[in-house]
Parts: sequence; C-alpha cells; structure tokens
Amino acid sequence: MKVLPFLLLILGFSSYVQGDSESQQKLNDAEHSHGMGGGHHGHMGGMHGHHKLDKVTLKQFFEPLPSFIIDEKKNAPLIALGKKLYLEPRLSINDTISCNSCHRLDNFGVDSQMTSPGHDGKRGGRNSPTTMNAALHIAQFWDGRAKDVEEQSLGPVLNPVEMGMPNEAAVVNKLKKIDEYNSLFAEVFKGEKDPIQPKNIAKAIGAFERTLLTPSRFDDFLNGDENALNESEKRGLQKFVNIGCAMCHNGVAVGGNMFKKLGLVEPYKTADEGRFVITGLEIDKKVFKVPSLRNITKTGPYFHDGSVATLEDAIEEMAEHQLGREVGPAFIADVKAFLGSLTSKGKE
Ligand code: HEC
Ligand code: HEC
Repeated sequence: MKVLPFLLLILGFSSYVQGDSESQQKLNDAEHSHGMGGGHHGHMGGMHGHHKLDKVTLKQFFEPLPSFIIDEKKNAPLIALGKKLYLEPRLSINDTISCNSCHRLDNFGVDSQMTSPGHDGKRGGRNSPTTMNAALHIAQFWDGRAKDVEEQSLGPVLNPVEMGMPNEAAVVNKLKKIDEYNSLFAEVFKGEKDPIQPKNIAKAIGAFERTLLTPSRFDDFLNGDENALNESEKRGLQKFVNIGCAMCHNGVAVGGNMFKKLGLVEPYKTADEGRFVITGLEIDKKVFKVPSLRNITKTGPYFHDGSVATLEDAIEEMAEHQLGREVGPAFIADVKAFLGSLTSKGKE
C-alpha cells in the first residue's frame, strides 16, 4: 500500500472507534511495514464494541425512495407511449435493437454483459448501467454528459454503435410512417400541430423511465422497520458507513448524486478519462458518476467498463482504490449482504 502514513493513522484510529477489528489487523500490519510502530492496539479497547447506527447517522447518509417522482395517473398516456418506445426496435436503423435490448426491464435494467452489442454487433467501450432509478441521478451516463433522462434518451437512438439512426429527422420520419404512432402521439400531445417531434419522443421515454423506481427492504428499514434487515445485513450497513463507502454512495439512490475520481487513494488503471472528456478540467481525469447501488447484486459485471466480474471483487477494489483499505472476507460478505437488501422487493 502506498497510502501516506498519516492517513493510516487517521483511518486506524477511526476503525478503533468503530470496532472493525478485521480491517484494523490489516491496518496494523500495514503500519508496521511503514515503520510507524503499531503499539496503540489495546489503549482504546474500551471504545471497541458494536454501536448500532443511530437514526441521525442513517438520516445523514440515506433517504428512502419516494413512492413516485411523476404523477403516474395524470400522465398515464404519456408513460404508456414512453414504454412502447422503450420497447420499440424500429427506433434502430435495422429494426433490431430497442432500449430494452441493453436495459432489460425483466433483468433489473441491464443486459448483464461487459459491454453491449449494438445494431451491427459492434460494442461500445462502456458497460450499460441500469435504467432502474436512473431518473433520480444528478445527471445521466457514467460521465454525466446528459442532464436528465429526457435529454439522455435520444443519445442511444443516434449513437452509431447503438441504435444507429443517422439523425433526428430520420427518427421522426420513420415513426411518422407508422399509423399507430401517428394516432398515439396525436392523442398524448393533444392540440400540437406536429406531435411526432424529437422533444416529444424524449419526453415520453423520460416519463416512462421516471416510473422505474424499485423500493427495497432497505427503504422499509429507513422508514422505521428495524426487522427489515437481518443481522448480517445490519453489520454490513454499519461496515459500509464506518469504512467510508457512504461518503460517496449515499442519498436516495445510495449513489448517483456526485462525481468522484476512480482511484481516489490508490490509482486505478483505465484508459477512460471519464468526465475530463466532457469538461476538459484536469481535476476531472478518471472522474465518473458514483453509481447507484440499488439492485447492485443483480447488475454485474461492474465498473464503467464492465471489467469487474463479481460484486465481491468490486467491493474489494473499491475499498482499496477509493479508501486505501484492505478488507477481508468477513467485511466483504457482510457488505455484500447489506447491498442485497437494496434489491427490488419481491425480486431478491
Ligand atoms: C446497445 C446498447 C444500448 C442501447 C440500445 C441503449 N443503451 Fe442506454 N446505455 C448504454 C450504455 C453503454 C450506457 C452508458 C454509456 C456511457 O455512460 O457513456 C447507457 C446509458 C444509459 C442511461 C444512463 C444511466 C445512468 O446511470 O447514467 C440511460 C438512462 C439509458 N442508457 C437509457 C436508454 C434508453 C432510453 C435507450 C433507448 C432509447 C437506451 N438507453 C438504449 C447502452 C445502451
Ligand atoms: C470516493 C468515492 C467512493 C467511495 C469512497 C466508494 N466508491 Fe464505490 N464507486 C465510486 C465510483 C466513482 C464508482 C464508479 C467506478 C467506475 O466508473 O468504474 C464506484 C463503483 C462502485 C461499484 C460498482 C457499481 C457498478 O454499477 O458497476 C460498487 C459495487 C461500489 N462502488 C461499492 C463501493 C463500496 C462497497 C465502497 C466501500 C468499500 C465504495 N464503493 C466506496 C466511488 C466511490
């Protein structure tokens, strides 16, 4: 480990207070190897022990999912049109690929592939993130280059390796040749002279995506049902907060609300410069949107390039690269158990 000794001291101290003896041992070993001497194990034995996470701490980091973010009754026709478009392969150049090909509604909004094949089988450089709960994020894509799900939605239709339509006019013309869409758009966008328009396609798909919320047992727990999580899940939650995962993965989506460097403490090898490509700011090199961890046990493979096959490895890599910490099997098992409580209820 190349972490600065003072960081180790701080982290070592905090892990005493938190009673995380497993990683403490690892940290002590690391301190010895840096010639810092380990001697303070024991001084603070009194502070050892398993404190329950109190309500204020939980509230500081997490928020339960809202029951809705769009009026689903009032917008029912718009949402139904959006769903139809989401499932529509005719939005692709050769009628083969829909949004649902890469973001499957029956598979937690992902295709479970490292990277996704588009209309001609070519793959892009990034892993398909889930569309579930994505509308809650600060911005869309791994690098945040679209501001919301509406703005995002035409990107893949026009992306040459995804759905491959040449331009917006071609998309509009194609839909205008389908009777059903002429009447559906006319119904939904009543009073508009020319309702089949890029902005209306985006509005409909975005509206549908705003319904893709997946309440979990963790939400029940945050809403006061202490029995919603089992012991291992509660331990995992505590470890997740204690070690610092929740500094980045927090809020209503347990992520999705900030951008951070991949390899913040220990450099991470990747050719992808992330947000730097969008902003041109030096500090944005290898900066990505912190992903939401809702449904994370179901949405592998992991990371922006899909290069991490298992959740166990993702947890271990995160601890190392984002926090400079080495974690063992007990930590990984508990944190994985906690993350399982973020899966859509009834689909666990
Ligand atoms: C060929 C596969 C493919 C198709 C088809 C596709 N996407 Fe994606 N989608 C991706 C990939 C890959 C990314 C990440 C790209 C990036 O971040 O640069 C992504 C990102 C997204 C995101 C951002 C989620 C987040 O967490 O940032 C949303 C929302 C989304 N797609 C919705 C859609 C919609 C709606 C459609 C149909 C109009 C669609 N996608 C079609 C592969 C696909
Ligand atoms: C400093 C901020 C930060 C901290 C701390 C952090 N993460 Fe992350 N996490 C990220 C970022 C950024 C990514 C996206 C990585 C990428 O683009 O490849 C990520 C990705 C992940 C993923 C993969 C998500 C996916 O959809 O592919 C998991 C799982 C994860 N983190 C879990 C954790 C756990 C567990 C901890 C604590 C041990 C943790 N993270 C600590 C910022 C952080």
